[in-house]
Amino acid sequence: MKLNLYNIALTGLLITGIFNQVAIADEGAKLFKACEACHSIGAGRRIGPDLKGITKRRTNDWLVRFIQSPAAVLKSGDADAKAIFKEFNNVPMPDNALTTDQVNLILAHIDGGKGGAAEVDPKLALMQHRIDSLIATNSQQDILAGYDLFTGKRRLENGGAACIACHNATYNNISKGGNLAKDLTKAYSLLGGFTGIKGLIGSPPFPSMAQTYKNKPVTDEENAYLQLFLKSTDAQNPATPIIAKAWLVYPAFLLSLFIAFVIAAIWFKRKRLSVNHDIITRQMRYSK
Ligand code: HEC
Ligand code: HEC
Repeated sequence: MKLNLYNIALTGLLITGIFNQVAIADEGAKLFKACEACHSIGAGRRIGPDLKGITKRRTNDWLVRFIQSPAAVLKSGDADAKAIFKEFNNVPMPDNALTTDQVNLILAHIDGGKGGAAEVDPKLALMQHRIDSLIATNSQQDILAGYDLFTGKRRLENGGAACIACHNATYNNISKGGNLAKDLTKAYSLLGGFTGIKGLIGSPPFPSMAQTYKNKPVTDEENAYLQLFLKSTDAQNPATPIIAKAWLVYPAFLLSLFIAFVIAAIWFKRKRLSVNHDIITRQMRYSK
């Protein structure tokens, strides 16, 4: 190759081009972290749909608007938005403060197909297999391991706070957790099963929970035990705790109605037997 100006410029352009591509993929992958709890690219549905091939199913304009504000697109009466919202049990996707460029970086990352079955680390695959069979077996012993982790009876391997510090989950009719965050008794069915819970524990999209586990992540194995535990609290408690409380409210309402009735009856009797009443009857007698 002759070293003339033209060739130098061309090589320069090529190199910056490659760097640019790498930077774009990197930036898109970074931004996609905010979506990972709910979406995979080719690894199946989580709380939200698998996004593999999404750029072929929807127009770019729709995707940009939807990813920035699903609520706004839904509110506009968009039929596609309504259909997926219903398909995903009316679980809303949160709005994202992203520019159009940032959304396009994410879409480029999704198109790149990262996170698929590309490179498989045999050690990871073995671990995954172990966890898959743990979940499939759903043994009482493993559910109890999840209970111990949830309540802090067994320490989380990396030293993170026990879930019970912020959450309650009713197990064997006992609820003794914190109420700083949502009650998780029915989380399993509300979040669409194992995958939903797994994603939320693995990379929580909630600031306070994310902060708690940022440097002390819950391991995949612990995550599996917790999934089994929450599946079992879900199965044990067909009614939500709120409805359970309503049953207490109902007799209380009847009792207060009864007390009001008794008070009214006494008051009425007193009124009739009061001095006033005597005077009135006497006068009525005289006036005859
Ligand atoms: C807390 C969970 C959650 C997070 C975080 C989340 N999504 Fe979603 N997403 C959903 C759910 C659930 C749906 C299904 C539609 C609905 O219920 O609103 C959805 C739907 C979508 C759709 C429409 C898919 C289709 O089939 O049309 C796209 C695209 C999407 N999300 C992209 C993203 C991107 C990109 C991010 C990150 C910036 C993100 N989502 C973050 C839960 C989430
Ligand atoms: C420092 C407090 C804190 C700790 C500890 C914590 N979480 Fe959370 N978690 C939250 C907050 C805040 C939310 C957001 C929802 C809310 O406001 O209740 C949340 C949400 C969740 C959700 C989604 C609930 C839903 O219906 O949307 C799940 C599932 C969950 N946490 C599981 C766990 C598990 C399992 C642990 C233990 C490994 C844990 N959390 C530990 C604060 C915490």
